[in-house]
Amino acid sequence: MPRHPSLIALSHDHHHGLALALRCRKQALGRLKPMSAVGLKERAAEFAAFFEQNLTRHFKAEEEILFPSMRASIPASSALIDDLLADHARLRGFLPSLAGDTGLAKHLFDAGDLLERHIRREERELFPLFEKHAAEIDADKLGSEMGAILG
Ligand SMILES: [Fe+2]
Ligand SMILES: [Fe+2]
Repeated sequence: MPRHPSLIALSHDHHHGLALALRCRKQALGRLKPMSAVGLKERAAEFAAFFEQNLTRHFKAEEEILFPSMRASIPASSALIDDLLADHARLRGFLPSLAGDTGLAKHLFDAGDLLERHIRREERELFPLFEKHAAEIDADKLGSEMGAILG
């Protein structure tokens, strides 16, 4: 089933996020050049840049518009949204570790792993709920409110 139009901008970010998550895990496992410290630092910088340019506004749209509206209208979404918010906090928490020099391979692997699992839960669990209840949550209005944040 095609994505609801109000979710397309988020799904587009997810597509890029999944590609980055894979690069982070590959780098951590030494399967991406340049290897060793240089590559790890490059990938950590890429994660931080993606966070700043993309995930900051993406999380804002989800946390300020999507999650509260879904939670208010779809009781079944509440536990899932709690988990997703905890993921956001953990993903933000990786930024200081990725800016440092110690344990970079492990931090990169874990950040990539969490980012991928987080995106897959939104795509496979949250977005289908949104689409199923699109009429009750005024999905079109939410889409334009998120659009104002996502640009
Ligand atoms: Fe999210
Ligand atoms: Fe998302």
